[in-house]
Amino acid sequence: MRILSGIQPSGRLHLGNYFGMMEPAIRLQDEGDAFYFIADYHSLTSLQDPGALRRHVLDLALDFLACGLDPAKATFFRQSEVPEVCELTWILSTLTPMPMLENCHSYKDKTARGLTPNHGLFAYPVLMAADILIYDSDVVPVGQDQKQHVEVTRDIASKFNHVYGETLRLPQPRIRMETAKVPGLDGEKMSKSYDNTIQIFEEEKVLRKKVMGIRTDSTPVEDPKEPEGSIIVDLYRLVAGEGEVAAMRADFLSGGKGYGDFKKRLFGGIWEYFAPMRARRAELEGNLDFVEKVLRDGAERARGIAQATMGRVRAATGLR
Ligand code: ADP
Ligand code: TRP
Repeated sequence: MRILSGIQPSGRLHLGNYFGMMEPAIRLQDEGDAFYFIADYHSLTSLQDPGALRRHVLDLALDFLACGLDPAKATFFRQSEVPEVCELTWILSTLTPMPMLENCHSYKDKTARGLTPNHGLFAYPVLMAADILIYDSDVVPVGQDQKQHVEVTRDIASKFNHVYGETLRLPQPRIRMETAKVPGLDGEKMSKSYDNTIQIFEEEKVLRKKVMGIRTDSTPVEDPKEPEGSIIVDLYRLVAGEGEVAAMRADFLSGGKGYGDFKKRLFGGIWEYFAPMRARRAELEGNLDFVEKVLRDGAERARGIAQATMGRVRAATGLR
């Protein structure tokens, strides 16, 4: 089974990215042949600052390795080190109906928020389809917001196979429902575009301040509080054990404790949960040659597979 996923190097890793995509993806490295990449071509649709791009790519590589990606099990690489994916994007784009892209939520959300779209942002699901199809992927672990893009990928692959004969493998999205939509500081989906994120490898003081800023209602300290639907409880569930969550819920219901108290507990939970990864990340920062080597070796392996797929695609389309 080939497992594949990517993440854009467009900001610091947050709890939503980690629990929605990274952690499930890292778990899957034990179940099949995993391919994980840093989607740097994708991030050019919104980030046009070479220094920032380089920094984010390195950050994301450190994040992935610190969080448990094992290069002995998973192939880890930079998207742009396999430029064949752009050739496949072009070929697939000639099979992609315009209305299919016009219907993509992620594109509609971004333009609705006032972002002036470039062609790359519009065409991005086709690049994502190429990412998935070029590696003959079976399973794509992503958060809920990317499900539609995997469906688009299946439609494009079916169209290709219909027109040119069976060539491309159809993938399945893999979404872990419990963490498909991690809430942010304001209760909306946590996302760097909404400025409501809790970043995992933040300095202690900044992280604490972020957590203390979670939106709550104005129930007085002495009154009972509703744990159901509380952002604090929902986030605590991600990082604390069952007993600790039960204790927090009980304290919500009994009254006598303020939200500040619960936020401190949540901060403690987050800080502790990520402590081993923080340590590992600091270690890796002192060993960037290793990180670079992992990405280079990964790219070499990925490129071999991509070239084989392109051989089939070129033959099928009549380009060769
Ligand atoms: P952002 O919304 O912050 O820009 P990305 O779109 O770069 O995040 O998402 C990277 C990965 O993390 C995707 O697989 C996405 O589905 C997942 N993800 C992002 N935010 C969340 C969230 N709040 N809950 C669950 N998964 C998320
Ligand atoms: N579009 C994804 C995101 O923004 C990143 C991505 C690019 C991806 N190519 C992919 C995810 C292929 C899974 C498979 O999060």
